[in-house]
Amino acid sequence: MGVEVWWAEVGLARQEFVADLNDVERGRLDAYLRDVDKARFLLGVTIVRRVLAARMSLPAAKVALDRTCPDCGKPHGKVRSTGVELSVTHSGDLVGVAFADRPVGLDVERVDPSLDVDALARVALSEAETQELRGYDGLAKARAFTEYWTRKEAVLKATGEGLRGDLRAGVPAGIHVVELEVGADHRAALAVISPTPPVITQQTAAQLLR
Ligand SMILES: CC(C)(COP(=O)(O)OP(=O)(O)OC[C@H]1O[C@@H](n2cnc3c(N)ncnc32)[C@H](O)[C@@H]1OP(=O)(O)O)[C@@H](O)C(=O)NCCC(=O)NCCS
Ligand SMILES: [Zn+2]
Repeated sequence: MGVEVWWAEVGLARQEFVADLNDVERGRLDAYLRDVDKARFLLGVTIVRRVLAARMSLPAAKVALDRTCPDCGKPHGKVRSTGVELSVTHSGDLVGVAFADRPVGLDVERVDPSLDVDALARVALSEAETQELRGYDGLAKARAFTEYWTRKEAVLKATGEGLRGDLRAGVPAGIHVVELEVGADHRAALAVISPTPPVITQQTAAQLLR
């Protein structure tokens, strides 16, 4: 089974992408206060729309997407489309979208050197992981923590639990978690619910977003 992961740098966002958004997405876009948050959201939507449009031979604006939250009905849930499993993530300079035929979770985080890693480790990491972190200092420690964090979020996004899930737990059986290489400033991980390890292809969305 294959997973396609598309990445874009936040600078690739353009106003004209808004034309393909539905009303719910325009509402979400308007609600963001900071331009950088608007840009990240817009890029995530546009990558989803354009990749699925090419697969379905439809205009990007015609791709039906559902963002209904299963808990409260508001349109802030995981984005869904029929016939494909999706996961969207954005942080720092990067936006990523995974497309798969099994439930998938993608998470990217910018490494923040000012993180209080020890305090976060107490709530988010297992004993063994906390022990492992003691071997690191400074930026390397922030990177190592962020690596753990993205793996956990990827799993919780694959299962759909989100951050309500147990962060300190290990990876449940039947979930494959893979670290993705995205440069020194960010960490990224992909989780797939599958009996076999996924075959992952990564590509830049630069051409797609032209
Ligand atoms: C999902 C979640 C882990 C994402 O965390 P994050 O690192 O801040 O953000 P990311 O950029 O990596 O991911 C955001 C994307 O996750 C997706 N998403 C939202 N909820 C999700 C969920 N429960 N499971 C998987 N993916 C989810 C969305 O597609 C969103 O992108 P978009 O709105 O731009 O399309 C976090 O927001 C969360 O736990 N949310 C749900 C928690 C909750 O209590 N929900 C009930 C509210 S009533
Ligand atoms: Zn909700």
